[in-house]
Parts: sequence; C-alpha cells; structure tokens
Amino acid sequence: MQRTKIVDLLKSTDYGKEVIVKGWVRTFRNNQFIAINDGSTTNNIQAVVDFNTTDETKLKRLTTGAAVAVTGELIESLGKGQKVEVKVKQLEILGDCDAEKFPLQPKKHSLEFLREIAHLRFRTNTFNAVFKVRHALAFAIHQFFNERGYVYMHTPIITASDAEGAGEMFKVTTLPFDNTPRTEDGKVDFKEDFFGRATNLTVSGQLEGELAAMAFGEIYTFGPTFRAENSNTTRHLAEFWMIEPEVAFADLTDNMNLAEELLKYVINYALTNCTDELEFLKNRLLEEEKQKPQDERSVLDLIAKLNFCLSNDFQRLTYTEAIDILKNSNHNKKKKFKYIIESWGADLQSEHERYLVEKHFKKPVILTDYPKEIKAFYMRQNEDGKTVRAMDILFPGIGEIVGGSQREERLALLEQRMKEMHIPAEELHWYLDTRKFGTAPHAGFGLGFERLVLFVTGMTNVRDVIAFPRTPKSAEF
Ligand code: 4AD
Ligand code: MG
Repeated sequence: MQRTKIVDLLKSTDYGKEVIVKGWVRTFRNNQFIAINDGSTTNNIQAVVDFNTTDETKLKRLTTGAAVAVTGELIESLGKGQKVEVKVKQLEILGDCDAEKFPLQPKKHSLEFLREIAHLRFRTNTFNAVFKVRHALAFAIHQFFNERGYVYMHTPIITASDAEGAGEMFKVTTLPFDNTPRTEDGKVDFKEDFFGRATNLTVSGQLEGELAAMAFGEIYTFGPTFRAENSNTTRHLAEFWMIEPEVAFADLTDNMNLAEELLKYVINYALTNCTDELEFLKNRLLEEEKQKPQDERSVLDLIAKLNFCLSNDFQRLTYTEAIDILKNSNHNKKKKFKYIIESWGADLQSEHERYLVEKHFKKPVILTDYPKEIKAFYMRQNEDGKTVRAMDILFPGIGEIVGGSQREERLALLEQRMKEMHIPAEELHWYLDTRKFGTAPHAGFGLGFERLVLFVTGMTNVRDVIAFPRTPKSAEF
C-alpha cells in the first residue's frame, strides 16, 4: 500500500478506509495525539494512538522531529480544528529525533534564529509556505514566457565579461594563492589559469541574452547571478536568481508593458494557486505587525495588497519628474531623507524609491529616462544627450524590483559610450558584432526573483526567501 499525502487526506471523506501516513512529528500530546506533517501542506494530520496497546518505549520515541509511518483507519474527527484524523493500527518510528538536541521546538521561533538553522527551517510552517510560493512563482514565470513563444536560454555562469560594468564580480580561478604565476611585469599571469584568461561568475546573462534575441526574436533567461557588492541590507544577496527577457524589435514602452504584464501574471498565479499558503502568510504578517505601532502597520493585508497591485496600472514617469517630486517633498525639506535630494543627476536611494511608491503614488511605479552617468553602458541614449532609455520598476516595501532598458543598437554610439566608461571593446567584440551584423532595436529587463518572492510572501528579509542565502561574511550550508 502506498502512502497518502496529508494534503489529500485532509480533503478526503473516505471514512473507514485504511491509509498510510508518513511524515515528521510536530507534537505529541496527552500520550495519544500525534500531529504529523509531511510537507505537502502547512496543515498537520492528527493520528490517535491507543496508549494502552502501544509499547511504552515506542511512545517515548514520538518526539518533535521524529520521522514516522502510521497505518490506520481514516475517521471523522471528534475534536475541534480538523475534519479527519487517523486511528492508528500500526506505528513505526523511521528515524528518532533527540528532543534535547533538536533545535526546533513546538513554539514560535524568531526568523533570525531560524536563519542560523537554515538546514532545518523548511520544517516550519512559515518556510513551508514561503518555498511553496517560491516554487509556484518560478513555475508561473516559465509558463508566462512559454505561452508567448519565448525561448528559454541558459546563459553561462562563468564569463570573462562584466555585463554591468560595475566591477562587482567574484573571480573564478584554479591558480594557487601562494606561488601565483606572474608575468614579467609582476601581474598575475592568467594565461596559466584554467581558461587561459581571467574569468568571473556572471552578474547578468543579458549580453548573451541579447545575442540570442537577435536570432530568436524573444528569449528569456532564469538563472543564478552573483554580485560581490558589500551591501548588507534586507534586499541584497551575493547570489540571487534573475529573470531576464530580451526582445528584438521592441522599444522601452513594449519593455514596460511586458514587465508589468509578467508581474501581474505571476502574482495572479500565486493568488489562484497558493491560496492556503498566502492565507497563512497573511495571518503571519498580521500577527507580526501587532508588535508595531498602529501608524507603522500596513493599510492592506497581504492578499489585499497583491490584489491591489493587479487592479491598478503602474504609475509611469520620468526620472526628471521624480526628482522634482522628491526635491519639493516635505520629507526632503525637513531633511527626513538620509540622502537629501539636491539636484538633478542624483542616484536614487531605496529611501527615495520607497517614498515615491509608498507615500506619494501609493502604488507600483515605473521610472524612465535616467541620467546616463548612473546607468550601464548598453542603454540607448536619448536625443537630449543626458539621459538613457532606462526603466526601473519600484514596488512597495521593496524598492527596485525590475531594472531594464532599450538597448543602444547604434554601433558608433555604443562604442563611444564604452570608451567614455573605459570598457575595453576587445573583450566585448562578440557583443559589438550584433550591432555590425543586422542590428535592430531591442529591449529587455531583469527581474530579481528573490525580491519578487519577498513581495508576494510579505516576508521582510531576502535571506528568508532563498534556501541558503549568501551574503557578506556568510556562506553556511
Ligand atoms: O538592475 P540590475 O542590476 O540590472 C541588470 O542586471 C540588467 N542586466 C538587467 C537587464 O536589463 N537584463 O538588476 C536587475 C534586478 C534588480 O532590479 C533587482 O531586482 C535584482 O535584479 N537585484 C538583486 N537582487 C538581490 N540581490 C542583489 N544584490 C541584487 N542586485 C540586483
Ligand atoms: Mg538596477
């Protein structure tokens, strides 16, 4: 006989049927009620043992965390809180769990504590829900692009180029740290290295994605990216997952439309397919917010917030318009920003992004046409000579969730920009080839997957939506 998953048993009304449940003990009460969880749902099933006929040493082994197999009859529950339970006929302990040593107790643990035991935190309801939603969002992203005929490209993890030109790369090498081979002028001799040149982990699959878009028309990537930026915030990871579509014959408006459509599609998918998880996460958040003063609590609960996002157009405006709003805001005048907005050209900090989204427009915002100085080399230059066709999407509670642009398809202008920004053309000869051989307008963006999961789950730290976070000074597990 096969085991039945708890998610199915809890919906079943086959009273009297013999079933097998396998899972981990959450609690064992009154020497008879075992709450078992198998991960298929955040809900447990109750199994009732008869302590008169069960070996006492076995009962003692029913500790939180132990793996068990239970065979018994599915019956209508007499107790409150559940419809069905299992009347145990046969109980097998598959794996013991020393209650003295097992760090997960049947009580509320802080997220900080759970981060220290990330190898076990999947066994909590919160992380069960978070990772189910993460899975659903990943699936929805593939479904969205598949339905629209986009080709999923696997761009390389190891590259020799810095796609963002920001120099935030992790080196990849097999050279020894002591006795490193040197050239005559004392520099590290990468000719001796594994690839015969200096390589690093990719910060973005965009440049290779563009090559593919210039052949397939519409592609997307969805893979891990790496940034050695020393940002210890609730929204930065050194290893994060990014979705990067790239579309030929598209301009910035097409790009914004695609991003808004994608975000709404996947949020809607989660709302439709993760009802239990989102209900659980909504209540978790309400509970957590009770600790906060009234005026700091969210106006909308999690599910209302997601629905609100679906039913409103994202506010679109230029960087220049945004700077005006920020400069003239009371927040700026009263010096409530850590970084005061003095003039056009300032890079926006997350406090500014969040002010625009949360205080001013009170909905998702798309900012376009940023100063070229604060954006990457590949963005298409505007006629004004000052700005580029960039767009960032800003979300409540998150700040930047998407960064993208129309690309500079004009060879001479691209080469000139690379020169100004000291990006060696030799290294990117293959990228420049697309501008030489049948260049065409195209656009794309990057969606930070963990920031999306953060938004949809209502969690507040990006470390709690990726299984094993990599951040400065931390690479456990
Ligand atoms: O704005 P970014 O740096 O854009 C790019 O990498 C472009 N190549 C994308 C493209 O046009 N194809 O990063 C895109 C998104 C950000 O908006 C953010 O959501 C996320 O990636 N992101 C991070 N997420 C977590 N931790 C980090 N350190 C992140 N850096 C960027
Ligand atoms: Mg960005």
